[in-house]
Amino acid sequence: MNNSLKVVDERTATSYDIPIRDGAIRAMDLRQVKETPDDFGLLTYDPAFLNTASCRSSITYIDGDKGILRYRGYPIEQLAEHCTFLEVAYLLIHGELPTQEQMNEWFYDVSHHTMLHETTKKFLEGFRHDAHPMGMLVSTVAALSTVYPEARDIHDPANRKHQILRLIGKMPTIAAYTYRHSVGFPYVYPDNELGYTENFMNMLWKMVEPKYMANPTIARALDILFILHADHEQNCSTNVMRSVGSSHADPFLSTAAAAAALSGPLHGGANEEVLRMLDVIGSKANVPAYIEKVKAGNFKLMGFGHRVYKNYDPRARIIKWAADQLFQVTGGNAKLDIALELERIALSDEYFIKRKLYPNVDFYSGLMYQAMGFKPEMFTVLFAIPRTAGWLAQWQELVEDPEQKIARPRQIYTGYDARDFVPMTQREITAKVKVKVEH
Ligand code: CMC
Repeated sequence: MNNSLKVVDERTATSYDIPIRDGAIRAMDLRQVKETPDDFGLLTYDPAFLNTASCRSSITYIDGDKGILRYRGYPIEQLAEHCTFLEVAYLLIHGELPTQEQMNEWFYDVSHHTMLHETTKKFLEGFRHDAHPMGMLVSTVAALSTVYPEARDIHDPANRKHQILRLIGKMPTIAAYTYRHSVGFPYVYPDNELGYTENFMNMLWKMVEPKYMANPTIARALDILFILHADHEQNCSTNVMRSVGSSHADPFLSTAAAAAALSGPLHGGANEEVLRMLDVIGSKANVPAYIEKVKAGNFKLMGFGHRVYKNYDPRARIIKWAADQLFQVTGGNAKLDIALELERIALSDEYFIKRKLYPNVDFYSGLMYQAMGFKPEMFTVLFAIPRTAGWLAQWQELVEDPEQKIARPRQIYTGYDARDFVPMTQREITAKVKVKVEH
């Protein structure tokens, strides 16, 4: 069997053999398909990248139809059961699980990069008391670029590793400080004797006690959530990380851009929206009427559906299990009943079955975060902390990939053809500019 695609251009009656590799053809191989010799060549048109692979990657594998997720080959279920988040972060960045010695060194290195420069603390103080934590996080991560200008040397592997440690180390500190700022509490310095997640809890919740001791069940549940959120191949924010990184911007700026993409309600911001939606629904009895409004196209069911998973999101399954453990300590979340009823009705409704819409990672994570004591504004920040490891693993892979260049898609131009300049006195108001801003 010939491993190629035969394409016949009916415009010119010319046939082309396009090689197929790894189930894909190269879009650039279509450029030879021309109507006339000075024709630009055939483009592919793929808004929102529904069917375009932008890179070769060995980090995360997803089979959306079967509901499979693996980091570096390891099933997410096994990693969630046996690993700590920091171990998984090592796996994502280095490609292999660490030995005890490597893990000790990794923990030492990360925990010695947790502090923020005092000027960065002052920077955070400049935000309004009610600033959204994601806005604070995005801006502060970008501001780190000014503190570490040497990060611009992205071609030096040792320098890259240094910045990776800084970002993984400082992310929980920034996240915790955005919370302390919003409630007006003094910032708590990192405690290097504590594990990664326990230290994050320490910086969030320590008051006047001499030593903060995290509840082990809550710490483990949060660590599992970190593992589940650590990477998810070429999702919206990772694509931004790679796209901005492809211009050779430093990793702080690329990470800030990725976090900005994460904040949107269709991506990481969905976990916050799920809780708001459950509040709006109010009770189990209101679920059927709400589902009808979703089906009528009034709004989407937040925490449902996924670009890649057309089956149960494996992360949602693990979260349901972890939530059971957590709720035994924290007590249940009153909204759980509404969520379970939503899931039950949606999974048996033709609208959702036909479109293969299942609960995604964000459907239950918010209920857990809330039971732990987080307010909804913090939920996406909790997603950004572990995803930083995934973004950085993907960024490193990008920088080391000789096939990659600056990301620069093509367009299909739909605007005016060339037209002559019109002096202002002769211009007319067009419908397009009629929208007025209220002052
Ligand atoms: N509720 C109701 N209908 C939906 C939903 C939903 N949550 N999601 C998709 N649909 C419908 C959509 O209207 C479309 O219907 P039709 O074929 O009649 O036009 C069909 O299902 C296909 O949806 P799509 O919008 O083409 O799918 P997409 O791959 O472009 O979008 C998505 C994926 C996740 C953005 C979308 O499912 C969504 O908006 N979900 C709600 C937000 C959410 O939970 N996001 C978190 C995603 S998982 C974590 C993460 O990425 O951070």
